[in-house]
Amino acid sequence: MSKVLVLTSSALGAASVSNQLVQDAITQLVLQDPHLRVIARDLGGNPIPHLTIDSAKALRGAEPENAAQAVARALSDELITELTAADTLVIGAPMYNFGIASTLKTWFDYVLRAGVTFKYSESGPMGLLEGKRAIVIETRGGLYSEGPAQVLDSQEPHLRNLLSFIGITSVKFFRAEKLAFGPEARAKAINVASGQLAEVIQKEFLDAA
Ligand SMILES: Cc1cc2nc3c(=O)[nH]c(=O)nc-3n(C[C@H](O)[C@H](O)[C@H](O)COP(=O)(O)O)c2cc1C
Repeated sequence: MSKVLVLTSSALGAASVSNQLVQDAITQLVLQDPHLRVIARDLGGNPIPHLTIDSAKALRGAEPENAAQAVARALSDELITELTAADTLVIGAPMYNFGIASTLKTWFDYVLRAGVTFKYSESGPMGLLEGKRAIVIETRGGLYSEGPAQVLDSQEPHLRNLLSFIGITSVKFFRAEKLAFGPEARAKAINVASGQLAEVIQKEFLDAA
């Protein structure tokens, strides 16, 4: 049975465009495979705590020395178990201040663990997760896929690096851009992204499974 891990990270709750598009993607995936198992983490609604002196230590190999370190290690183990069990990741990634939401970044802080999801080898760092694919849905008020603001995009390159660092290199990015360019541009961007998701999931994504 295929398993999908869904990560949403918008701070905007019901008004979130990325949450809505993630839902569209799940609907399409379930249409393709009614037995799909979906595990969801709403990182925006229920944020993981930011790193502290204790959690940073516990995630970097040291045996937990106190309750705070043990809690952080247990949470990291739980998140990594969810990640390793999934064949497919669906990530909702709003652009906040040119990058990803801090709630999503914190999830990566907990799952990028040396010796567990990546390792250092003689030829450099190596991702340890194999055979996983990701659908990443990016929402932006402005336009970054082309034009003068392209150089300001610290969202997509960061996500690509984080995923590939742990071995997830089969990644499809979908963008709803120009959401702040007025109601018409916003509606168009959402419709286009939703249509692209449906098309790719129906024609390509599951076929390649
Ligand atoms: C705190 C905050 C920061 C934002 N920063 C940017 C930005 O740097 N560039 C941009 O194009 N849009 C920016 N936006 C607009 C969001 O990308 C846009 O509202 C998008 O819909 C967010 O995704 P969501 O609706 O899923 O939360 C920002 C929005 C918020 C709330």
